[in-house]
Amino acid sequence: MSKLKFFSNIHSVENKRIIVRLDLNVPMENSEIKDDTRIEVIKPLLDKLKDSGAKVILISHLGRPKGEVSPNLSLKPIFDYFKRKCNYNISFYQNKIDDEAVAFTKKLKSKDFVLFENIRFFKEEEANDENFAKNLAKLGDLFINEAFSCSHRMQASIHKITKFIDSYGGPLLEKELKSIDLLSKNKKKPVTCIIGGSKISTKINILTSLIKNSENLIVVGAMANNFIKFKNINVGKSLIENGVEKILKNIIDLSERNNCKIIIPLDVNSSTDLNGTPIRKDVHDIGSKEMILDIGEKTIGLINKIVDDSKTVFWNGPAGYYENENFSEGTISIARKIAKNTKTKSLVSIIGGGDTLAAIKNTGLQNSFTHLSTAGGAFLESLEGKELPGIKVLKKN
Ligand code: 3PG
Repeated sequence: MSKLKFFSNIHSVENKRIIVRLDLNVPMENSEIKDDTRIEVIKPLLDKLKDSGAKVILISHLGRPKGEVSPNLSLKPIFDYFKRKCNYNISFYQNKIDDEAVAFTKKLKSKDFVLFENIRFFKEEEANDENFAKNLAKLGDLFINEAFSCSHRMQASIHKITKFIDSYGGPLLEKELKSIDLLSKNKKKPVTCIIGGSKISTKINILTSLIKNSENLIVVGAMANNFIKFKNINVGKSLIENGVEKILKNIIDLSERNNCKIIIPLDVNSSTDLNGTPIRKDVHDIGSKEMILDIGEKTIGLINKIVDDSKTVFWNGPAGYYENENFSEGTISIARKIAKNTKTKSLVSIIGGGDTLAAIKNTGLQNSFTHLSTAGGAFLESLEGKELPGIKVLKKN
């Protein structure tokens, strides 16, 4: 049977050139890093490589420049971050991936690092181009994929590169895969999934798969507005998605067939203004000019009770419009409850999604869960049972 090769199985990397594919696709505003969680979680591997005397070649994308050089999407701010915050002797390489680049990496000394400029500035990356991948592979002696969150992309620095170089999964990638097992193959029941976010049509596959694998599905965030409206309850000016009635009906039918209970908000915090202050309301009392912007107290109580009765919780997507802290109470309460039960009741807790991470950023709870996934789409696709192309190529007989 084919088995995934992980970097932890290798012993000596001293003086070897190690290519590490990272996901440095972090939220930026005016070239400033808004959330460094994705950088923090890859540091253990980089520190380990440094301590082992490797020469480290870092590759990542940022945003979707579509094969064009786009100064707004340069990795330079991340290079500056590495220089400022990590004790690495690091350089920034902005030229083509050619013989000169290979010569550059061959001149690196033990413990040196080089960060290559945004790999998606080359159109060959997204095209999964064979020659480009071959040149990339020549930059190193060994390749580590530490970007689970990009492994659903069939792109040269994730996929085709593995054809030309001895390739391994990194420790974070390994942890992400193990946490998917905790929600599928090795799950402790009852399982509760809490799903937020805004677009139901983009999460239809994952909802379908979660319903088949869990006892409770709690729907929060703007996504819940659709379920509320479907029950003929007025949602005023709340964010909803049009034309999803059939999807909702199918989801509800499926949940009944699979004995998965769907829970939607009983009460909410609403306002007529996104920048406003919350008005607590029963879900039946929303005025025509109001928007639902967070879950209310009763709903928080109900979620707490369900979490208390669960052995596994998966949470993806905030409960409200957390960008205005007046409406972040629901999201923060959920985070606190899950963190507490992880510590005191051995709850298996897996949380993820870019917005969820951003919403709990200032709570200090990041390390209080069984696993905090920094992957968005890749994690959800894996949970749906799909084999990601970037993972498949790491399997060896
Ligand atoms: C992500 O942010 O989920 C990964 O970096 C993948 O980015 P992409 O959706 O632009 O491929």
